[in-house]
Amino acid sequence: MYIFNVFLMQQTILIIGACGQIGTELTLLLREQHGADAVIASDIRQGNDGLMDSGPFEILDATDYDALEEVVAYYGVDTVYLMAAMLSATAEKFPERAWDLNMNSLFNVLNLGKEKKVDRIFWPSSIAVFGPNTPKTKTPQHTIMEPSTVYGISKQSGERWCEYYFEKYGVDVRSIRYPGLVSWKTMPGGGTTDYAVEIYHEALSKGSYDCFLDSDTELPMMFMEDAIRATLTLMDTASEHIKIRSSYNLAAMSFTPSDIVKSIQKKLPDFTVSYTSDSRQKIADSWPNSIDDSFARNDWGWAPEYDLERTTKEMLQNLR
Ligand code: SER
Repeated sequence: MYIFNVFLMQQTILIIGACGQIGTELTLLLREQHGADAVIASDIRQGNDGLMDSGPFEILDATDYDALEEVVAYYGVDTVYLMAAMLSATAEKFPERAWDLNMNSLFNVLNLGKEKKVDRIFWPSSIAVFGPNTPKTKTPQHTIMEPSTVYGISKQSGERWCEYYFEKYGVDVRSIRYPGLVSWKTMPGGGTTDYAVEIYHEALSKGSYDCFLDSDTELPMMFMEDAIRATLTLMDTASEHIKIRSSYNLAAMSFTPSDIVKSIQKKLPDFTVSYTSDSRQKIADSWPNSIDDSFARNDWGWAPEYDLERTTKEMLQNLR
């Protein structure tokens, strides 16, 4: 497609937070595309065997600028994916630590861009940038935000800083507001949308699940394969086509716990669910039900491929 750069095939890539839910799959796919040695995985702890055995790995604390700069110089990194973050539910328990990790890691990477030590940066934002006063249905790209969680506040501030570094210093930073992500390779940790992964694991292992969100809590969600494809497409798009340097709305599907239960029951008729909502309910209630992603569709050709039925099929098949 005309919007892609060809010279980007020669990248040396650093993934920060490579052992997490998104980082693991992103690393594995980038290694397939660019060769194992061109993709340096890093995290504060080691990941699963599949990740650790597939190419170079460094223990790296993203809040330590000097350590980061050293890894970038040693490997000749030109592209950074900053996937390390404290997610919504955990961040409510440790507000200052969440702010410190989520913001300082971003500043460090943006400053590498400002110092021309790296050429291109990906940083994920989230539907958590929206808040209780945001229009809930088909939430527009540009709208009232006012996030009410520590995580959302850090992501919204991060978006402002990304746009600022692009405008002021020409840093080529790109971002997506991910919906809740459903995946089978690596568990999510500390998020509000984690139920949509746990439910598949427990449907298979126990035949039942106690859901921490109410049955009718509708949230924007996406299967991991779509999320990774969106990320790589955005990163391969020629810079002049990227019109939004804060973060792009991105959508695939929206569903409630009750919808996901019905879709699992089509394959596992004996599966049962109970609902015991906890503090995560309030977080979920402050987020949109669905997202308008027309800017991503128009600017870089985004189109999702997985709906709930296809997601359920993939999840159950692979987890078995
Ligand atoms: N999935 C994340 C969370 O639940 C939102 O980005 O925290």
